[in-house]
Amino acid sequence: MTESTAHSENQPTEGGLKHRHLLGLEGYSAGEIHLILETARQFRDVLDRPIRRVPTLRGITVVNLFFEPSTRTRISFELAEKRLSADTVNFTASGSSVSKGETLKDTAQNIEAMKIDMVVLRHVSAGAPHFLTRCVDAVVINAGDGAHEHPTQALLDMLTISDHLGSLEGRNISIIGDILHSRVARSNIHGLLAVGANVTICGPNPLLPRHLEEMSPNGRVRVTHRLDEALEGADVAMALRIQMERQGRNLFPSTREYHEQYGIRLEHLDRYPDLLVMHPGPVNRGVELASEVVDHERAVILNQVTNGVAVRMAVLYLLSGSRVAE
Ligand code: CP
Repeated sequence: MTESTAHSENQPTEGGLKHRHLLGLEGYSAGEIHLILETARQFRDVLDRPIRRVPTLRGITVVNLFFEPSTRTRISFELAEKRLSADTVNFTASGSSVSKGETLKDTAQNIEAMKIDMVVLRHVSAGAPHFLTRCVDAVVINAGDGAHEHPTQALLDMLTISDHLGSLEGRNISIIGDILHSRVARSNIHGLLAVGANVTICGPNPLLPRHLEEMSPNGRVRVTHRLDEALEGADVAMALRIQMERQGRNLFPSTREYHEQYGIRLEHLDRYPDLLVMHPGPVNRGVELASEVVDHERAVILNQVTNGVAVRMAVLYLLSGSRVAE
């Protein structure tokens, strides 16, 4: 990073990321994850100042390519880019030439021809960000690809857990709900196991992956179908949205029955008084979480959203390092 673009108070800790892209947390080491979280903490101080902007990415152009709907991820990436003084361009599939049949590869190569440095991609297809790295020179950041990974969500989840509980190592995190379709679950499993947390997944059989070893490297993830088994001894309950849009058919009888068996309700907060409740959003109130639980002080859902901006600033900064120096 050059003197002109560096902001001395926001230098990352020693070392850097080994990866050029953030395609998923699979393969990211504990050291890399801790570096991102520590850098995010430093950027969070910037966000608490009256002027929430640093010149760190001045001269860098980032394109946000969103082929799927998003509220939190899209806005927080854009805010993160603006807080870092990057030039940003937003692309959504609707209203673009994708509707005329243009492919992802052609779309990305045409945008790159306009001289861009980084691409943030959300896409319905698992593996789309990996594919993109073979089509463009720009740094690629995965903002959610199908049911595969959503790495920045898991990073902001880990930052939120660490804010409330300190060390992540040895913490018991239960991920509850539609694991089968969840990129959030996959990224959290990779990230949490890397930093030494214990992970339990819980849900009805049709919403768990058929090949559990895919979600449970070396059998390290505990599996249960009973909500109370998942909550007993857990530090965190991470409830996941039932992803109706990814289900070709109904995989459980009704949302009412789902809520009765797997929904977290006030009675659970009474029974497990130290339990912290998280949800990546958007929440189906009354399904994964009772509405009163969403608004409860032990639900840290909005803290997760706040942390999203700092985490994305950290990721953009750390991955742009080589380009800022060029
Ligand atoms: N958590 C999350 O990815 O939310 P959005 O779909 O609104 O971005």
